Amino acid sequence: MRYRMTVIGTGYLGITHAACMAALGYEVLGLDIDVDKVRGLNQGTLPIYEEGLGDLLKAGLESGKLRFTTSYQEAGEFGDVHFLCLGTPQRAGGSAADVSQVDSAVAALTPWLTRPSLVVGKSTVPVGTARRLASGLPSHVELAWNPEFLREGFAVEDTLHPDRIVLGVASDSAERVLREVYAPLGDVPTVVTDYATAELVKVAANAFLATKISYINAMAEVCEVAGADVVQLSEALGYDTRIGRRFLGSGLGFGGGCLPKDIRAFAARADELGVPLTFLREVDAINTRRRHRAVDLARELVGGSFAGRTVGVLGAAFKPNSDDIRDSPALDVALAIHREGGSVSVYDPAALDNARKAYPVLGYAPSVLDAVRGADVVLLLTEWQEFVDLDPASLGVTSSIVDARNALNPTHWRTAGWTYRALGRPALV
Ligand code: UDX
Repeated sequence: MRYRMTVIGTGYLGITHAACMAALGYEVLGLDIDVDKVRGLNQGTLPIYEEGLGDLLKAGLESGKLRFTTSYQEAGEFGDVHFLCLGTPQRAGGSAADVSQVDSAVAALTPWLTRPSLVVGKSTVPVGTARRLASGLPSHVELAWNPEFLREGFAVEDTLHPDRIVLGVASDSAERVLREVYAPLGDVPTVVTDYATAELVKVAANAFLATKISYINAMAEVCEVAGADVVQLSEALGYDTRIGRRFLGSGLGFGGGCLPKDIRAFAARADELGVPLTFLREVDAINTRRRHRAVDLARELVGGSFAGRTVGVLGAAFKPNSDDIRDSPALDVALAIHREGGSVSVYDPAALDNARKAYPVLGYAPSVLDAVRGADVVLLLTEWQEFVDLDPASLGVTSSIVDARNALNPTHWRTAGWTYRALGRPALV
């Protein structure tokens, strides 16, 4: 049977999932309560920057397989399988996850589910949410939990070629439907489990990745005091296949819409369950300290105070190949310098519009050269390839640079006359 699908919530996850399912040949109806967003999506306008997704969206619309609506009635009547792709941000004034968007979507959809159907949660939720939601559904509607693991910048790739599929189900029939849905992806390792395990896989994975990053950044703190080099340390550690090189990149630490809020929400939920995961608070604290350290290093390079100083900032997105500025370490650093009286000039290849809207107090530059010209110090805060590939000799200016992502070649910059400093590395590497 060719199931008809709806995708509720058209954020990063929802748009990607909807467009990818349409690309697999399914008829897909995306739903969002944001009228402007839905209008834009139906015209092929992508509200985010994501490699390959714009083409997939247009192809889906042109084939007639994909369209978007604001009507829950239409979604209920259309779909056999309904994917929940809503955001679960950090709760205002707390660290737990705010699941109100998921709750509202289920409440709005349920009255229109008049025939047997499967509701599939993909959002990242506190463990226990699926069981609660399932208990409120009518008997002809089933629930499954099927977490997503997509990375921004690789969202399409991660959806069409996932490392694994996790199915939290309460019946064989739900498993059968989901196996059939994902069959076009080919032979993907699939873990079939209960709701709670499926919910936990997602937060446990993100907590592990965050811990790995903070681990190497804690080593960077030690290196700074001991006169050691964290870049060589992580290279050497990474050759041990039990440890591995990935996510052992030291520097400014993690940001974005997932890792920071997921570890906080996980710690909050673990507290409620009476199993405190206190180490996650230290993971968070190490991560925050790296941002302070970048500011300290830049301040040192301009002689102890930012007052009256011009500061060039390369990067605003929380990571390269994204225009996402949620919890961006780069903008956090830029703001801290601005607050200390520095005149900040930020350049980013994709995130400038988002940054300007969110932080109009900062200065922005239309190019790398405009950001670095006249700067007393330059900070590389997001490792876009454009910055990694910079030829310092061709810039025509020299100054000091803080390589907060350990992404540049120190020798090139020094040879070109720059003062080069990095996090977790000796002053003269
Ligand atoms: C993450 C998870 O990787 C993904 O599986 C999950 O579904 C959502 O959260 P994403 O937020 O897109 O994805 O970013 P990711 O590539 O994981 O990077 C997160 C942050 O860690 C970025 O700020 C990045 O700069 C930082 N990072 C990553 C490091 O500081 N060092 C590293 O070695 C790797």
